[in-house]
Amino acid sequence: MKAIIFHAHGGVENLKYEDIPPPTPAADEALIRVKAVSLNGFDPMILRGTTSLKTPFPMSPGGDFSGEIVALGSSGNSGTWKTGDRVCPYPYIEGRGMMGETVPGACRELVTMPVTNLLRMPDELSFVDAAALPIAYGTALRMMTTRGAIRAREKVLILGATGGVGTCCVQLAVAAGAEVIACGSAEWKLCKLREIGATHVIDTSKEDFLERVRDRFGKPRYLGGGGVDVVVNYIGGETWVPSLKALRHQGRLLVCGATTGYSPAEDLRYIWSFELQIIGSDGWTYEDQTALMSMVVEGKLKPLIHSVRPLSETPQALQELIDRKIFGKSVLTVTD
Ligand SMILES: NC(=O)c1ccc[n+]([C@@H]2O[C@H](COP(=O)([O-])OP(=O)(O)OC[C@H]3O[C@@H](n4cnc5c(N)ncnc54)[C@H](OP(=O)(O)O)[C@@H]3O)[C@@H](O)[C@H]2O)c1
Repeated sequence: MKAIIFHAHGGVENLKYEDIPPPTPAADEALIRVKAVSLNGFDPMILRGTTSLKTPFPMSPGGDFSGEIVALGSSGNSGTWKTGDRVCPYPYIEGRGMMGETVPGACRELVTMPVTNLLRMPDELSFVDAAALPIAYGTALRMMTTRGAIRAREKVLILGATGGVGTCCVQLAVAAGAEVIACGSAEWKLCKLREIGATHVIDTSKEDFLERVRDRFGKPRYLGGGGVDVVVNYIGGETWVPSLKALRHQGRLLVCGATTGYSPAEDLRYIWSFELQIIGSDGWTYEDQTALMSMVVEGKLKPLIHSVRPLSETPQALQELIDRKIFGKSVLTVTD
């Protein structure tokens, strides 16, 4: 079968479109023909080897995927699953970790998954839309609802709003009735952020987001007034302290990642004197992933797809992600 494989850490030049032996499902697994697979912000990190995770070589990118069951293992414990079923599996495998991180990703024609990880796709949902959902949209759903409890009329500042997690955060905050201030690094991305409902946009390649927040909403005051209610920050690094300074008294800072550095400078004075809440959020549940699929079918959420390319063009799609030339999700499709 065809697969995108890398044998060592490095740049996209390490990604090869190779023939590898097809996998055989273990007793409690399903063999799935991949139809669509999407890339995430962690794919370049795993390729480069900049995380603390140990990569199992040969490796493939692609944590999120959708496809069709083509065979089931011999255990007889497959429940109601049968060949031909359309699935969008939960990509975190108990005891092995996340696909694309510590388990080879789905940029390949065939993948095995434990049947306990399978989630049924609604008939109305396309393979491309389904593959865009799990990791980024799942994380955004948990962060903005279960953990962040975004409410109507709150002012919500979203940094890096143009990526996978970000475009879903914007949509969920808008749907909750919040006033969204969305950040992106290019004019064309800001236009798209407005299209999905952001009230204010900030071009972080030219503007200082803290200054813009202070200009628009006033400098936060100890006794209330000024600033925003919520900052969504998975960028980390130099954006961390300005995020604290942008929050109103008793504001909330939501964090699920740290694209530019997980050990930023800190300023504890803002946390205690403004009684800020720092709220971490990690992953999502099976129920979240099922809810996302229903929300798409019901027209309550739109997977924002930047491009759909054939699997062989994974290196080009990943380079675009690295170069920050993407709005939403990049999807690769696998033809029979
Ligand atoms: N904890 C969890 O469960 C979980 C799950 C999924 C993701 N995450 C984390 O969430 C973050 C976002 O993931 P994602 O998949 O949405 O990534 P993504 O699609 O690559 O989006 C990240 C966005 O961050 C912005 N950005 C700002 N500074 C950047 C920089 N120096 N390098 C690259 N991008 C930069 C980019 O927008 P502009 O160019 O427009 O600024 C980009 O659109 C990552 O840190 C990821 O590890 C955590």
